[in-house]
Amino acid sequence: MSLGDEEHEYDHAELLRQRTPESERLHERAADVTPLGVESNVRAFDPYPFYIDEADGSYVYDVDDNEYLDFLLALGPIILGHGHPDVREAAKTQVDTCDLTATPQPIAIEFMEKIVELTPSIEMVRLANSGTEATMHALRVARSYTGKEKIAKPEGGYAGAHDYALQSVYASEEALGPADRPNTVSYGTGIPDAVSDTVVAFPFNDKEATEEILREQADDLAAVIIEPVMFSCGCLKPRDGYHEFLRDLTEELGIVLIWDEVMTGFRLGLGSAQERFGVTPDMTTFAKVAGGGYQTGGFGGTAEIMREIEPPEKNEDEKWHSSAFHGGTYNGHPVSAAAGLKTLEILEEEDVYDHIERLGDRLFTGLQEVADDVGLPVNVQHVGSMGQVYMTDADIHFYRDSWKSNDEQFADWWLEAAGRGVLFGNPMQGERFFTTYTHTDEQIDDALEVAEEAFRAVDHPYDN
Ligand SMILES: Cc1ncc(COP(=O)(O)O)c(C=O)c1O
Repeated sequence: MSLGDEEHEYDHAELLRQRTPESERLHERAADVTPLGVESNVRAFDPYPFYIDEADGSYVYDVDDNEYLDFLLALGPIILGHGHPDVREAAKTQVDTCDLTATPQPIAIEFMEKIVELTPSIEMVRLANSGTEATMHALRVARSYTGKEKIAKPEGGYAGAHDYALQSVYASEEALGPADRPNTVSYGTGIPDAVSDTVVAFPFNDKEATEEILREQADDLAAVIIEPVMFSCGCLKPRDGYHEFLRDLTEELGIVLIWDEVMTGFRLGLGSAQERFGVTPDMTTFAKVAGGGYQTGGFGGTAEIMREIEPPEKNEDEKWHSSAFHGGTYNGHPVSAAAGLKTLEILEEEDVYDHIERLGDRLFTGLQEVADDVGLPVNVQHVGSMGQVYMTDADIHFYRDSWKSNDEQFADWWLEAAGRGVLFGNPMQGERFFTTYTHTDEQIDDALEVAEEAFRAVDHPYDN
């Protein structure tokens, strides 16, 4: 539907604004010391973000003592609910026993062994502190292994905040050019053109165009980095054997296939998306769920590729120049390793996936139903416990289909729901949201009731 001028003037943030005076005050204070008043651009939204000072199970609480039923879940890591007692205990015990040291600690070995055991593509692994670090280092190792310089990524995909990944994330249609021959466009300023020149964009799910582009660039391409499901533009599912096709093609062309499982790793199953889809990449990146709410990340792959990090036996002068460097003061941080290991053990032992996927099905199919009841054109997409609402009834088969969604209406719907105490992710169309282990059927019922009210409020704002 198209919103008329009168409806545009309606303030869908009003409910939230009324409830959050302390957040508004804090935001003004924060904006004096940090750009946009937040520590990460993704946390900024209009009219201002609310500030949380307590989180427990399925709920977070803001500084004005409002309770929110949380489906944002820290952008993905919180799979067991906030503050799971055993994860908290594991972190506390580690804090009390041994903090950071420069020499490695056994707890990190246990954590890495568990990751290797669970992840089909990972024979050897290295730890880092975020998804951004994970993808940056994985790409370097792939370049080292192949001796080639360029990387390819799908347009619309987010693979972290470093210069090589911030390419063709968001841009205008004019800048991105033809859908089947997309230009590489850096996201934001401050990124050297020389870096953009080493990145090749291709359209996810379009086999013909992908093949043409990759074959043409194959001699220069070290790696393809791709999400198994493109959750970085909502929820774009692979179609028509796309990943099987890409697996075969990259193998034939001598290109390292990296699955960026930062979002999907240990969330779409114990063996991550690669086990679920039955496709084994050469390398994998992970973060989020692996740390159970504490900062971790990492990358791994075949031993042959990962041994690019090991200097060959040469004399001292030469050896460090003939291997790929990977380092970091906080790599394998013992508190994150303890919390991450405990999280993976719980995922192994309890029926977490059955629970979050059953509730995910209820939530996302329920959202489609209530939107249909209201009569709003909406397309809800999900895989397991993760999904997104698109404000359009068009099919979402390619990244550019997501442009058909009404971003402003989505933000309004989100604000109306947040004002009623439910966080359906972030107020940005390109995000997605999740179910967690502490969610209950009653909470899903509550969420759907609020979602319906919020859909009505954006459809008929003056009737509410
Ligand atoms: C697929 C993917 N890769 C990489 C990243 C970057 O991870 P981080 O925010 O931990 O740096 C993200 C973050 O959302 C992501 O979704």
